[in-house]
This record gives sequence, structure tokens and C-alpha cells, in this order.
Amino acid sequence: MGADYSLGTSEHSYRYYRNAVEGHWDPYEIDLEEDRENLVAMADDVDWSDEEIENSTNILGSALAMFGAGEESVTEDLAPLAVALESIEDQMFITTQMYEEAKHADFFDRYWREVINPAREAVGMGTTSPHEDRWYADEYIDLFEREEEAMHRLLDENTPENRVKAHAHYHLTVEGILAQTGYWGLTKNFDGTADDLPHLPGLVKGIKLIRGDEARHVGFGMKKVKSAIHDEGVDEEVLHSTLEDIVPLVQKTVMHVWDAVDDPRDFPGTGPGRLAQYAADRHQGRMKQMLDADTEIPELEELTALE
Ligand SMILES: [Fe+2]
Ligand SMILES: [Fe+2]
Repeated sequence: MGADYSLGTSEHSYRYYRNAVEGHWDPYEIDLEEDRENLVAMADDVDWSDEEIENSTNILGSALAMFGAGEESVTEDLAPLAVALESIEDQMFITTQMYEEAKHADFFDRYWREVINPAREAVGMGTTSPHEDRWYADEYIDLFEREEEAMHRLLDENTPENRVKAHAHYHLTVEGILAQTGYWGLTKNFDGTADDLPHLPGLVKGIKLIRGDEARHVGFGMKKVKSAIHDEGVDEEVLHSTLEDIVPLVQKTVMHVWDAVDDPRDFPGTGPGRLAQYAADRHQGRMKQMLDADTEIPELEELTALE
């Protein structure tokens, strides 16, 4: 490290790092009081039976429990990539991602403690833990086990192929398809525009801030995969076969949220069919941006735009 030492400030990973520093936010600064009030008021206002209240609470509970646990998993599983990456700019970027995943996990944990449980208590339902098995689809557990394995493989065999597999699990599928689909569904259903569903402004605000962070994470993974295929000679079949294995797990996970209700068509907002379609569209769009050498990876705002 001599006098000629300097950072590659024009590198995309450095620019993402700076963007993260400039966009800092605190999950404890989001006001959650209105969410709690609106959830309780909803149960009082609408003429729902106890069973209907329980069902709709469980749909939201399952979505939020899986989100929170997902953020915890990605926080825990990112470190091997930090070991595998070489440049200082990539390392700087990864430190911001690790910090941000921790904040996302913190946000969902706080939401459960300060909104979900108090609202349940107010309507006479007992408190629950987001770690109860019933919130989770088997395919979700499977997906995250495979993601952990793909990340840890980098510690033993840090090859370009294994890096593509790691990014395909982590950045493209878990963050780029599963999480994106969840943000879209939660925002659409709870931003105050859906009839018969409560307005949850704190949740929607937290998700908006999280999406801003996730744009950098997904963009970083997509750029790495694109350059592994176009510059490092990794066969694109590695990407296809990895995604073919795991994308169906995303579809099953999305459907699980509605297992609490007999007929998902009774749910007043955006239901499982539209969400599954959204997940499929996300997958197609990301593939084109990575595989076609002439198509650019979109700018940050576009990467996690909801529509
Ligand atoms: Fe996250
Ligand atoms: Fe992320």
C-alpha cells in the first residue's frame, strides 16, 4: 500500500457503496403507531367473524414471519462471499450489504413486537412468535438451506461457477424474485388503496426503504453473474440449471401465505395467483438483463420498482 494506492471510485461496487452510505436510515425511526391502531380498528370496523379476523391476521403474519426470517438468514449467510471477493471496492460494498441485511431483520423483528402482537392482544387473540413453524412453507426452509449451502461452498471452492451459483441463490432468487414479490404484494395490499384491508403506513415506509437497499444488492449480484458469463466464460447453463431447481420453491412459498384460508379468493386484496405471476415476470426480466450482452442492468431506482 504505497503512495499510488487509491480506490477505484468509478467502479460500480464503489458507487453502490457510496449510495448506501448516503442513503442511511434507521429502522427505529419509522413510526408504527398508526399501523397498530389501523390493524385493531379494522378488526372492530368490518363485520368479520372471529375466524375471518384470525385468517387475515395469519396471512399477514405468515408473510411477515417469512420476511423477517429471510432477512435473518441473508444476514447470516453473506460472510463467505466477503471472503471470496477480491477487490477492495467489492469488499467495501459487501460491508454495506451485511449491515443493511441486519437492519432489515431488525425492522421486521420490531414490527412483530410493536404491531403484530399488540394488535393481536387488543382483539383478544394471544401473542405469537414469528419463529413458529406454522408460518413457514417446507419449500421456504428448503430454499434457504440451499442458499446457505451455495454460499458456504465458496469457502472450500471459490470458482467462477460456484460464485454464479451463490449469486443465483442469494441475489437473484431470494432477493431478486422472492423478496421483490413479497414487497409488491405487501405494498399493494396495505398502502391504503385496497378496500377492506388496513392501511399500514409504517410497514409500507419500511419496505420502501428496504427496497432502496435491495436495489443495490440485486444490481451487484446481476452484474457479477453477467460478467462471469460474458467475461469469465462461465457456461450460462450453470445459471439456468440452478434457477430451474430453485425458482419453483419460490412459487410454492408465495402460495403458502394463503394456506391459512380455505379459499384464497375470499382474500380482499392481491392474492396468490397474481403474486405467482409477478414472481414469474420478475424471473424472466432479470434473465434477459443478465444473458443478453447488449441489454444493460437497469439503474438502481428501476431495479426494485414495484411495477
Ligand atoms: Fe434485506
Ligand atoms: Fe438484500
